[in-house]
Amino acid sequence: MSELNIVLLGPPGAGKGTQAARLQEDFGLQYIATGNILRDAVRDGTELGTKAKEYMDRGDLVPDDLIIAMIKECLQHERANGFILDGFPRTERQAQALDEELEQLARTLNAALLIDVDEQAVVERLSQRRVCVKGQHNFHMAFDPPKHPDRCDVDGSRLVQRDDDRPEVIQHRLRQYREKTAPVIGYYERQGILRRVDGSRSPDEVGDQIRATLAAVRFEEQV
Ligand code: AP5
Repeated sequence: MSELNIVLLGPPGAGKGTQAARLQEDFGLQYIATGNILRDAVRDGTELGTKAKEYMDRGDLVPDDLIIAMIKECLQHERANGFILDGFPRTERQAQALDEELEQLARTLNAALLIDVDEQAVVERLSQRRVCVKGQHNFHMAFDPPKHPDRCDVDGSRLVQRDDDRPEVIQHRLRQYREKTAPVIGYYERQGILRRVDGSRSPDEVGDQIRATLAAVRFEEQV
């Protein structure tokens, strides 16, 4: 079976991380989440983290050059059965850089999955999201609550609110999404690999729709 390489698109809080965790498990894919890599770098005080922190705290995008270099390095690693990119590309320039890099590596992007959710829903999701400090596992205090209110079910570490989940930063992230990331949807639509998923449904229903969509992608590639 050939590789399955996908990008997950959608506004902040659409459920990209939630669904990526399921896909990673179901398909044995390498999971590359730019937001997680950057937050780890900030926590560890690396050069990348120091450069990225001020952008992230404001809800701005980190400059393309930094992000593209970071992704190129990730794509050199072991291939597994393919990859899921979560949070990348976020600008048309990043999308073009990804195409160029994949061409050099003789790899192909099979699908760009857009998790479609309206802004009101994502604001509600983000304001009640909690993440653990160790593994960045996600919870929602109403829709997907942890067993213990301030401990991660998976690794037992402390649950916190992300700095960029404050209301004023959420609004700024949404503006950035509209202005800079929404055009990436058209980029993949023109390539004929965009697939839309209704992200307003429950996490299980969204997961089912994604699996059905990927099965269809595989089928279309074989005929
Ligand atoms: P990043 O970490 O990528 O943030 P994001 O895209 O804003 O996405 P989120 O992680 O906020 O949301 P998500 O879609 O993963 O939703 P989740 O599954 O957690 O980026 C952070 C920052 O890093 C950026 O602002 C930027 O500064 C920088 N950055 C990263 N990549 C970059 C790039 N390529 N270029 C430049 N800068 C970059 O779900 C949210 C909540 O909802 C959770 O609580 C979850 O439990 C709940 N939930 C999930 N699904 C459902 C559902 N179906 N129903 C109800 N609740 C649900």
